[in-house]
Amino acid sequence: MGPRTLADLTRKDLFQQQGFINDEWVDATDGKKFDVVNPGTLEKIAQLPEMGASEVEKAAAAAETAFELYRKTSARQRARWLRKWNDLVLEHTEDLALIMTLENGKPLGESRGEVVYGASFLEWFSGEAERTHGELVPTANLNQRIITMKQPLGVAACLTPWNFPVAMITRKAGAALAAGCTTVWKPAGETPLSALALAVLAKEAGFPKGSINVVLTLDKVSEVGEALCKSEKIQKLSFTGSTRVGKILASLCGQYGLKKLSLELGGNSPFVVFDDAKIETAVEACIMAKFRNSGQTCVTANRIFVQDGIYDRFSQALAERIKTLKVGLGTDDGVFIGPMTHERAVEKALAHIEDAKKHGASVVMGGSSFQPDDHKGYFLQPTILTNMSSEALITREEVFAPVVALYRFKTEDEGVRLANDTKVGLGSFIMTENMPRMWRVAENIQAGMVAVNIGLLSAAENPFGGVKESGYGREGGRQGIEEYLTVKSIFLNVAN
Ligand code: SIN
Repeated sequence: MGPRTLADLTRKDLFQQQGFINDEWVDATDGKKFDVVNPGTLEKIAQLPEMGASEVEKAAAAAETAFELYRKTSARQRARWLRKWNDLVLEHTEDLALIMTLENGKPLGESRGEVVYGASFLEWFSGEAERTHGELVPTANLNQRIITMKQPLGVAACLTPWNFPVAMITRKAGAALAAGCTTVWKPAGETPLSALALAVLAKEAGFPKGSINVVLTLDKVSEVGEALCKSEKIQKLSFTGSTRVGKILASLCGQYGLKKLSLELGGNSPFVVFDDAKIETAVEACIMAKFRNSGQTCVTANRIFVQDGIYDRFSQALAERIKTLKVGLGTDDGVFIGPMTHERAVEKALAHIEDAKKHGASVVMGGSSFQPDDHKGYFLQPTILTNMSSEALITREEVFAPVVALYRFKTEDEGVRLANDTKVGLGSFIMTENMPRMWRVAENIQAGMVAVNIGLLSAAENPFGGVKESGYGREGGRQGIEEYLTVKSIFLNVAN
């Protein structure tokens, strides 16, 4: 039996090859198409319409019209649609996971996990929909009253990356639709099939015509991004991706309508192991923080700072553990690390490894690209670099690959200083059994999120987001829905 393909889907209609505008499956006006490729085999798996500014405007118009009715639906009704969507996503976990693995490369087990994680945002925001409300504000003047109400902003554009093809859609669209906004999705051109499958299930869940629209592009991403920022029909943008693109969107949104924006951008997460950490806990946390999605997450442990007294024991135990991780095609059994999603990801990681070596690092494991089981994909050996110098490029840039970069430090202050020596601040990880130290370091670390003795920051309940050049706004948590709402106050005169 060969590797699993899209022909193995149980629900064949979850595989769509058109955009979705105003409840219809559509092609690009000029008929242009782009290919979606399996990064583990380099086989073409789909051909999708290459859309541009004119399709953005059609999608925005559909969403704007739909908003007039959608904003008047009850929060209870929106919660029901979200719950139904959640149930359908979970029911079709196996099909959604297969689609995701084929377009993104991540191992099937991990894709299944992402489907469940993705669905959890729908369940979470179904609850939040009904618990978001205004307040009666006490006033100094007893003849006055102030009441606030929260209202949906309007049409929200959801621009999502290729590393989490399901969860980033549901984290944004779940919140937007719960708040009463209608949506235009622009999934990454490398992984649009998961978003289209989600749209099929959302439609089945009952979301009204025009409340969900999907615009597709691979090559016209700047044109589409710009059109979403410029459209007068769109009031809100939420973007997950690079700091470079986030800055472009922020300036366009500032220029065109001062659109409200949430940005979840690049990270350069420190993973700080103190002498008092439990080795097994720190190793398992590091495996999770570094190798999830083959190192291609915005919160991946990019700089691993290990205190002097534990450095040798930790690096040896980590190397032993990494040797047990199978690298291969995401659809093969037992695979823990899949291919990179892009060819350029492999090139960039190899350049980072060479640069680290020039700055004195030793490669104690891996260091090259390779083809496990003779596949023809974008594979990189899991790599460990020790004795990293702060001059190396990896110190400043995300390597976004299964490359473990170990730095040595001596004191707690030095560990915190090194962790904070970066322009970004999304995730961070600290490993310590010392409670006062945990508090001190968590308070002093410059990041939106701190994980303590765990290699994960992802949960629907967690307000996910960063500080500094990692962006602004929060997704998930109690705060996630607020990004799509505005507060209106009613000022009353109650004098006799
Ligand atoms: C990301 O990498 O941008 C998101 C990761 C997550 O939600 O866990």
